[in-house]
Amino acid sequence: MDQAEIVIDTFEKVAARAGDPHDLIYARLFERHPHFEDLFAMDTDGGIRANMLTTSLNCLLGVAEGSETPRLELEAARLHHEGYGLGSGDIDEMFEIIRDVFRDVLADDWTPAAETSWSAVLDQISRIGRDLDS
Ligand code: HEM
Repeated sequence: MDQAEIVIDTFEKVAARAGDPHDLIYARLFERHPHFEDLFAMDTDGGIRANMLTTSLNCLLGVAEGSETPRLELEAARLHHEGYGLGSGDIDEMFEIIRDVFRDVLADDWTPAAETSWSAVLDQISRIGRDLDS
């Protein structure tokens, strides 16, 4: 399997095992940064959190597949989130949290190949869109 197939395989296994990982991912985010939860006070129906996670997951898959589309999403997110006092490191951490949740859900089925592929994708993501930083 190539990098994209390995990452997609982890998405499919997480879905099969845990269903929608939304709650696990936000629980981990707010556990690490309790004050981030306050930033979503206006998101009363959870729609923004859902869109944000969908965008993040699409970025992960897109980067794994070598697509250029995530560049636009990541540039926009890095810029747009400055308005909430969030830096590029915070954006990158969201992807690390997703990886950590996936790794925990898959436990013994998280393979060395999954670790290597996810690390490579996260490393790429951390470089994309940073040139817009001031
Ligand atoms: C620590 C990481 C992050 C935090 C704390 C965070 C926080 C936020 C906040 C506070 C909002 C606006 C909520 C509101 O208006 O009520 C938001 C919106 C959004 N975020 Fe994030 N964000 C993070 C990472 C990301 C990442 C990695 C992406 C994708 C690349 C992303 C994509 C979006 C999008 C697309 C929206 C707008 C959603 C909509 O309007 O429907 N965010 N984020």
